[in-house]
Amino acid sequence: MKNVKNYIAENKDRFLNEIIELLKIPSVSADPAFSQDVLNAAEMVKSRLQDAGCDIVEIHETAGYPIVYGEKIINKDLPTVLVYGHYDVQPAEPLELWTSPPYEPVIKKTDLHPEGAIFARGACDDKGQMYMHVKALELMVKTDQLPCNVKFMIEGEEEVGSNNLSIYVAENKEKLANDVILISDTGMIANDVPSITTGLRGLSYVEVEVTGPNRDLHSGLYGGAVANPINILTKMIASLHDENNHITISGFYDRVEELSTEERAEMAKAPFSIEKYQKALDIESVYGEKGYSTNERNSIRPTLDVNGIWGGYTGEGAKTVIASKAYAKISMRLVPNQDWKEITELFKTHFEAIAPKGVTVVVKPHHGGQGYVTPINTDAYQAASKAYETTFGKKPIPQRSGGSIPIVALFEQELKSKTILMGFGLDSDAIHSPNEHFGVWNYFKGIETIPYFYQYFTEMTKK
Ligand code: BES
Ligand code: MN
Ligand code: MN
Repeated sequence: MKNVKNYIAENKDRFLNEIIELLKIPSVSADPAFSQDVLNAAEMVKSRLQDAGCDIVEIHETAGYPIVYGEKIINKDLPTVLVYGHYDVQPAEPLELWTSPPYEPVIKKTDLHPEGAIFARGACDDKGQMYMHVKALELMVKTDQLPCNVKFMIEGEEEVGSNNLSIYVAENKEKLANDVILISDTGMIANDVPSITTGLRGLSYVEVEVTGPNRDLHSGLYGGAVANPINILTKMIASLHDENNHITISGFYDRVEELSTEERAEMAKAPFSIEKYQKALDIESVYGEKGYSTNERNSIRPTLDVNGIWGGYTGEGAKTVIASKAYAKISMRLVPNQDWKEITELFKTHFEAIAPKGVTVVVKPHHGGQGYVTPINTDAYQAASKAYETTFGKKPIPQRSGGSIPIVALFEQELKSKTILMGFGLDSDAIHSPNEHFGVWNYFKGIETIPYFYQYFTEMTKK
């Protein structure tokens, strides 16, 4: 690869302005109020793929938001890289916690991003990271050095479970045929500690509803004599972990893959400061499952967390009331070999069983997906590793992430290919939170590193 740095330097301002334009579109897939914006984002991705040099770009309609497909096939005998990403974003709320409006991107300096970071919803997850691939394609095409074929599949429903993408993938296996899938929708350890994500956790997301009396009651007239659904729900939730913070659902750990002592020792080598971790979050101490380190707890161990809980009176002042109903949303992060549908069933059975007389419990499964682990003894991983070595001057560390991209396991099942997760975000980039940002340095480093992956992967796998 020649002129990679030059091409980026010459086009720096345009590359920044283009991602900023995309970030101005509030493409929130979860909220129907933004449906036109989500469609507009798809259109923008389409035209940017055309500009970057794709020969075919199509908008594929689904029952939900469209999938943008693009390709540049230069020679059928060469390998094909399939790039996946998403143009939808998480809701920006609570808006009052943003230091600048979520859809008016601005570049501000931070401690970890002295060269500035783009602040906007979707900057890191995933518009900024997805767009690095569009610009990397442009670079390779315009400098006449695209070494292999490339296909793009950019969806608009990742943040709401990718249901329609699952159908699209199953129905378009031939069109999507590839030798490796490349995704930038994860993170790395630090700008001077490059890492490649080798694992993602699975997910089971459920909602629970506890019903007591058939109407809200006066808490004096009835208090003490009937089951209070909020008291009961919180008690039931508290019982889901024991004193060692193990999850108490029977069968929950049955399929959990236990890592060998060697693998755990290998993991422990990744640089990590518990002091910095605690300080960044303003906590006095970490908390979690006994017998595991912080980095194990958030990657190779399964979890159960309440994501939201409500019921009763939460307005101004006081109201003496026993609510008829209480609710919670609960996510379980899963690790390899746990099956999300089985875990959802185990949860449902357990949660219904622990409900005392006097309340009824309904468990509503939302969505989920399998975890994923990518082997490192493949050409694809080695090509990625070499690409980082070229542009960071250091070998990247393989690292399992705690986050989930459920569609990745399905890619392997349907398309029979491995995924390489080249993430350039930092954990502190505040994805899904107020003040999400993506380092300008990280954005350009991604654009610089991706072409080398294409080059090395092609060299290693060419027939
Ligand atoms: N890009 C994230 C997942 C991610 C982030 C993985 C950082 C590893 C490191 C993705 O957009 C996401 O938010 N996934 C959801 C699951 C989805 C089903 C809503 C998640 O992990 O909560
Ligand atoms: Mn994402
Ligand atoms: Mn996300």
